[in-house]
Formats: sequence, structure tokens, C-alpha cells
Amino acid sequence: MFDPYVIRQDFPILGRSVHGKRLIYFDNAATTHKPRQVIDVLVEFYTKHYANIHRGYHTLSQEASELYESAHDVVAKFIGASSWDEIVFTGNTTDSSNILAYSWGMRNLKEGDEIILTVMDHHSNMLPWRKIAAIRGARVKYVDITSDGVLDYADLEEKVSERTKVIAFPIMSNVLGTINDAKRIAKIAHSVGAIAVADGAQSVPHMVTNVRQMDVDFLLFSGHKMLGPTGIGVLWGRKDLLEEMEPFKVGGGTIEDVTLDNIVWESIPWRFEAGTPNIAGAIGLAEAVKYLSKIGMNNVEKYEKELVKYTFDKIRELGDEIDIYGPSDLSLRGGIVSFNLRGIHHHVVGMLLDTYGVAVRTGMHCAHPLHYRLGLKGTVRASYYIYNIREEIDVFIDALRDIIKRRAEFGGGFSNIDSEKCTSG
Ligand code: ALA
Repeated sequence: MFDPYVIRQDFPILGRSVHGKRLIYFDNAATTHKPRQVIDVLVEFYTKHYANIHRGYHTLSQEASELYESAHDVVAKFIGASSWDEIVFTGNTTDSSNILAYSWGMRNLKEGDEIILTVMDHHSNMLPWRKIAAIRGARVKYVDITSDGVLDYADLEEKVSERTKVIAFPIMSNVLGTINDAKRIAKIAHSVGAIAVADGAQSVPHMVTNVRQMDVDFLLFSGHKMLGPTGIGVLWGRKDLLEEMEPFKVGGGTIEDVTLDNIVWESIPWRFEAGTPNIAGAIGLAEAVKYLSKIGMNNVEKYEKELVKYTFDKIRELGDEIDIYGPSDLSLRGGIVSFNLRGIHHHVVGMLLDTYGVAVRTGMHCAHPLHYRLGLKGTVRASYYIYNIREEIDVFIDALRDIIKRRAEFGGGFSNIDSEKCTSG
């Protein structure tokens, strides 16, 4: 049975306080905390099995290689991939997107081709496509959103054409929380022979994912947003497509053979995992996946929706003092609530919430174009995970009520604070 109070006991960090208050961590869309099980597996790997992989016949190298290889299998099963070798370990979502855009785009894009992105893409899955488009002479088009923060499917239908080669989109917006219909988008892509690239950075940690059911061609996500370590990400691709691709990052581990005038690339996934990979990261991610699988991703999804519903019920008490962004139809949202308090800068709200122990992200959340589209300089974002509980939402709403009361102290005078810098995907 899903019990967040039991789950919380696995997360040592939830025992700490901030400014004398119990930590309430609502910044899970940026990164999540790690359960003891993941921390322990990392300690065990480094203390008992650590060595480089695929580079020796000694016992430790064999053990490390087996653990690393089986991590591919664990992740493959978690997302419904056809086989373990469709999983490429990368550094994070941004890295996955760069590897894909260059490895696929250098071979398949030419002048006059079109790439369709959405205004709700975060930079990770937007900038690599823009860069490769500029290199190859392709054109980029953006699908708009409706006034309710839902992807405008009519606009997508209108923009797609025989020239479209790629449709890249987020399964869940990291700002609006909007859940997009991946299957529908993939169908539209395939109707014109384009590939469908799904950014799962916010969806894979929070929802059931099945790449075959969605029928997308590539999926990208990060380990650190789903209880795993930082520095490990995933690029999943359909086997036939991965096999056709040449690697963009090349070097150690990517070749089967090399002479001074010829290179034979390794089989997939190794040809895309250049250099010594993040071995411990992959093993930690596999442990995180096992942890989430035990809970059941349908339970995770259901619970986070309950937390959002609870938030919306409570937040209404704040009346006109708050603007909330994203779909009003809660069935279209994941566990993300972005908002602004009227007359108080988003960064100020974030700093004040911190004094109540509540950690939220403020700024443009690596999605500047979306904020410009909404006419905003930034938002405050609360994003939930399995260890958050209703009592924390109560503290959060009370803190907002308090901040609103104290608005005269904080309103205005902060026009020099603009968007935040975004260095992370
Ligand atoms: N894209 C990540 C976020 O939404 C970093 O916070």
C-alpha cells in the first residue's frame, strides 16, 4: 500500500531543518532527494566492486561491468523498451538531447527540412535542436499553447508538413505541469514520416511510462529527478533508429576497431557512451528505478494528482492574491504548481518561503520562451514527489497567507531582479 509517511523514513534529508523549521522540499522538478537504498548502493559499489567497465578481465572489472550492464536492463523494463541495448546512459536530459540532435541530425537533416518544437519546451530539449537546425540549414517552428496552458494540437496539425522531420516535445511541462498526449503527437509525426522525440524529464519520474504504447521514437530523461544520482541520464531510442546512427561524441568505448584510416563503430548502446561512463550513477539509477517500481508508478501518479488537487482546494482561500498558471482541468496536470503572488517579486516569495522551511524554485525554470509567451518575468514553482504530504502543503499555504499580509514590507523595489540563470536541465 502507498504510504508517504513510511516512504519519508527512507529519506534522511527530510530530518533536517532550515532556519529552525522542518525542511519542506517542494523543488522536485529541479531535482529530487535520495532514499537510503540509493545512497547505500553507491557506498556498496565504491567499497566492494568499484573498477572500470569493459576494460579488464579481473574480478572487479567483471563485477562492475555486470552491474553497469544490468542497470541498462532495469531501466529498459521500467520504460517498456524492447531490449536493454536501446538504453544509452548519458549525463542528463540535456546531454541526451545533444547526443540525439547531433547523432541523428547530422545524418538526417538537410536544408529546407523543418523541426517542430513547442513553446513549452525547456531549454534542454529546445536548444540542441535549434543548434543542429542552424548547422544543417533546417527551419524551426514552434507549437503554441492555448490560454489554459494546454498544447494547441490544432496549431501542431497546421504546422506539420511533408517537410517536418522531427517533432520534439515535453511529455510534461516543467512549468505548467501540463501533460501532453505523447501518443497523439507521435501519430501526427509518423503521418509525415517525422520522428517523435519525447522529453520525459518531468514525466518518467512521476508517471507510468511505456515507450511502445506511446509509440514515440526517442525518449530523454535524467536520473537525478527520479531519486537517482546526478550526472546520469538516459537516451532511449528505437533500436533500428539507434543502429542507423553514428555517434556524435566519440572516443574510448565507442569503437569495435579503429585503424589510422578506418573506424568500425561499436554496437549499440556502447557507441553512444563515449569515455568511462558514470558507472556508479547508472547503478544508483537502477536502484532508484527498483525503489519506484516497488511503490508502483500508477500510485506515484495518483498520489501527486491528489496533492495537486489538495493544493488547489487550499490555494483558493488566497482569493485574488495569487495567479496560478497551467491547465485548470487538473486531470491534465502532474505534480507541479507555478504561480505568482500579486505585487511581490517571485524571487522574494521564494526567499521568504525559505524562511518558513519551504524550498521552491523561482525564476524562469530553464524555460524562458514559455515565460515570455506568458508575458512573465518568472514564476514561483512548487513541485511534489512521493515524500511530500498534505501537512506540508498546509504550512506552505499558511506561509503564503502570511507573506501576503506582510506584502507592504516586500512589494516593489525589486525591479533589478530579473530572470535567474539557468545552468541545469
Ligand atoms: N529543468 C529543470 C527544472 O525545471 C532544471 O527545474
